[in-house]
Amino acid sequence: MGAASSSQPVSRRASLRDHPSRESLRDRLPAFPWDRLEPYKATAAAHADGIVDLSVGTPVDPVPAVVQQALTGAADSPGYPTVWGTAALRDALTGWAADRLGAQGVEHTNVLPIVGSKELVAWLPTQLGLGPGDKVGYPRLAYPTYEVGARLAGAEPVVYDDPWDLDPSGLKLLWLNSPSNPTGRVLGADALRRTVAWAREHGVLLFSDECYLELGWEADPVSVLHPDICGGSYDGIVAVHSLSKRSNLAGYRAAFLVGDAAVLGELLEIRKHGGMMVAAPVQAATVAALGDTVHVTEQRERYARRRAALRAAFEAAGFRIEHSEASLYLWATRDEPCWDTVGDLAKRGILVAPGEFYGAAGERFVRIAFTATDERVDAAVRRLAE
Ligand SMILES: Cc1ncc(COP(=O)(O)O)c(C=O)c1O
Repeated sequence: MGAASSSQPVSRRASLRDHPSRESLRDRLPAFPWDRLEPYKATAAAHADGIVDLSVGTPVDPVPAVVQQALTGAADSPGYPTVWGTAALRDALTGWAADRLGAQGVEHTNVLPIVGSKELVAWLPTQLGLGPGDKVGYPRLAYPTYEVGARLAGAEPVVYDDPWDLDPSGLKLLWLNSPSNPTGRVLGADALRRTVAWAREHGVLLFSDECYLELGWEADPVSVLHPDICGGSYDGIVAVHSLSKRSNLAGYRAAFLVGDAAVLGELLEIRKHGGMMVAAPVQAATVAALGDTVHVTEQRERYARRRAALRAAFEAAGFRIEHSEASLYLWATRDEPCWDTVGDLAKRGILVAPGEFYGAAGERFVRIAFTATDERVDAAVRRLAE
């Protein structure tokens, strides 16, 4: 009895895993890559002047006051929010899509709030009903969650250099990501037009992750929803937008979709059943954030300064920067294995992400985020010059 009860938690876990009819979802997924960075983080943290963490693209500057006020102003929200959001939120989303993306004729049926864009990327293939025999395409170097989403659904992940070179058979969902994480590359209007035309020709649903659209430096990113790209029709295309980077709202989980009304209507129904609601105060905060461009300009200026300082310092320290014309990252190489670069920088107290996290093609690159405070960026610049 005593022995049985002390071993109970172990045997319960064992019986779940060993159940013949149960495949663990976790077993479909790659190992969580960031755990491999932990020893390097410990090395960097041991630096006498502390770590400069440039590994994760997480905002460090304050949430804009106008957004905080809207959040607290809606703090008394006892009832359930709706998955589709308030009418005020949908007005804000359609208005922003028209003003900022140049999208024409966007109605409430063309928008859908989501709980940050990562959950959407991870669960979209499942919510679309994809599974074994279906393929999900995404760039060879990419945000890892596109692959995770395909695997969670049991679909096959396929990577591309140019999307129109993919074999369209079985391909159900195609991801674009411009500006790109990790490379900062921006797709030009011709490449976007060609991809939209190719996807429509082959009946492949196109999702365009545009969460860095407001962060163009040497390029002006264009949305797939711009009439020059989609011809003014949203058939078969959806753009994904997030306030995490634009408005320092990663902690709020505020994002949304704009595009094909039939696709969004289906997702709305599924997400209602699944209870995937954006919190009411966050909906109010999103309305305030989208209605204000002053904070976006201010934040861009902060990032532009940090980017210029880091770019110059890394180049002077022997790095070559590729792409990086937009987004929050410098895609850098010293023409050596990425873990050697990560290790060397960690000894100088600087933590960066190995390019391998974003695909094997990144094995000789590192991704340098410029989401650190001015003080930490200055510390990195000093250390690189030593
Ligand atoms: C390309 C890309 N898509 C989506 C996300 C998820 O952003 P969030 O969930 O904060 O909206 C990220 C985050 O870094 C990203 O880089």
